[in-house]
Amino acid sequence: MSTTKGLEGVVAAQSSVSSIIDDVLTYQGYNIDDLADNATFEEVIYLLWNGRLPNKEELEAFTKELAQASTVPDAVVEQMKTYPIEKIHPMAALRTAVSNLALFDEEADEMSEKANYRKAVKLQAQIPTIVTAFARIRQGKDPVSPKENLSFAANFLYMLTGEEPDEISEKAFNKALVLHADHELNASTFTARVCVATLSDVYSGITAAIGALKGPLHGGANERVMAMLSEIGEADKAEQYIKDAFARKEKIMGFGHRVYKAGDPRAKHLREMSRQLTEITGESKWYDMSIKIDEYVSSEKGLLPNVDFYSASVYHSLGIEHDIFTPIFAVSRVSGWLAHILEQYADNRLIRPRAEYTGPEKQEWIPLEKR
Ligand code: ACO
Repeated sequence: MSTTKGLEGVVAAQSSVSSIIDDVLTYQGYNIDDLADNATFEEVIYLLWNGRLPNKEELEAFTKELAQASTVPDAVVEQMKTYPIEKIHPMAALRTAVSNLALFDEEADEMSEKANYRKAVKLQAQIPTIVTAFARIRQGKDPVSPKENLSFAANFLYMLTGEEPDEISEKAFNKALVLHADHELNASTFTARVCVATLSDVYSGITAAIGALKGPLHGGANERVMAMLSEIGEADKAEQYIKDAFARKEKIMGFGHRVYKAGDPRAKHLREMSRQLTEITGESKWYDMSIKIDEYVSSEKGLLPNVDFYSASVYHSLGIEHDIFTPIFAVSRVSGWLAHILEQYADNRLIRPRAEYTGPEKQEWIPLEKR
């Protein structure tokens, strides 16, 4: 048996949800650049789940369906108030709260196609409610209920701050959601598929995926990019900081990718958003610093920014607390996880690879008293 560490290059599933071919990312055949420039996040969710774009009536009905499903059971919110709020990361809170949702859904273990779709709608609609409720509870504020007349993107910012966002913020946030929605067989999506391939339930699949997204080599990188930018402080100090980090053999968060070799096609959209938003907030230093780091890391190591690098200064410019960055990734990526889970159920086979054994062989049993 031969192994490929980290399953690099291994094709582990067939999927029609999204593809990365020759560094081009598509959702159901639509180029990410077209979607980023034109689509609402609601349209993208519909596309990922149904394999085609909705017409006007379908989009209206779907948007309404999501809005009506966005209320989280009171018991889940009440339990969030009992978490050790000041000590825990919002991703840990989200993981627990999503697992908790299953306890209050009578259909949690119902495996019919219709029940799984209904659960998908609830999870997509309720994860933003959970993330924003947690952010407010720890600030000593009451959660804000979503408004039916607002878009998905605007509602998230509204529930987070209690104020309806301006058009620029809403558009920027919508684009960020579109860009993060799906990404072929990334680590958290693979986790979700492995989990539900045992015919476990949708809530278990999403809880497992949240756990995988949380790590710094995956979704957790965006928060760490902002920590790095804050530590550097100004553009002139960026080069020396990175030189020192390289000398310590540290990884620079927001750079590198397992699949893309000529660059992540999502990064350019976030870079432009970062430029525009930091100019509006009068804090161009975050963009300037990011550009310096980008130029230095790519020229020294040939590593290019991934989706997490410029999203940090984008979210910061939208006034979002830094540890909410990764939960925002989950708010978007849950759409892709759900598409993959529904696809897995539709043509399921248990996912069970092998391991190459490297331990000792032919050991002789030693009784306890002789060890
Ligand atoms: N900074 C410095 N060096 C790096 C970086 C980085 N960000 N990324 C890769 N390298 C180097 C490695 O040290 C390694 O060098 P070596 O061969 O001399 O040992 C080489 O490039 C290959 O790196 P691996 O870690 O083996 O690449 P892998 O494909 O396993 O990992 C990953 C990809 C996890 C994205 C990696 O590039 C990384 O850790 N980046 C930083 C974290 C990050 O930004 N994660 C978000 C990824 S995108 C997403 O999940 C949304």
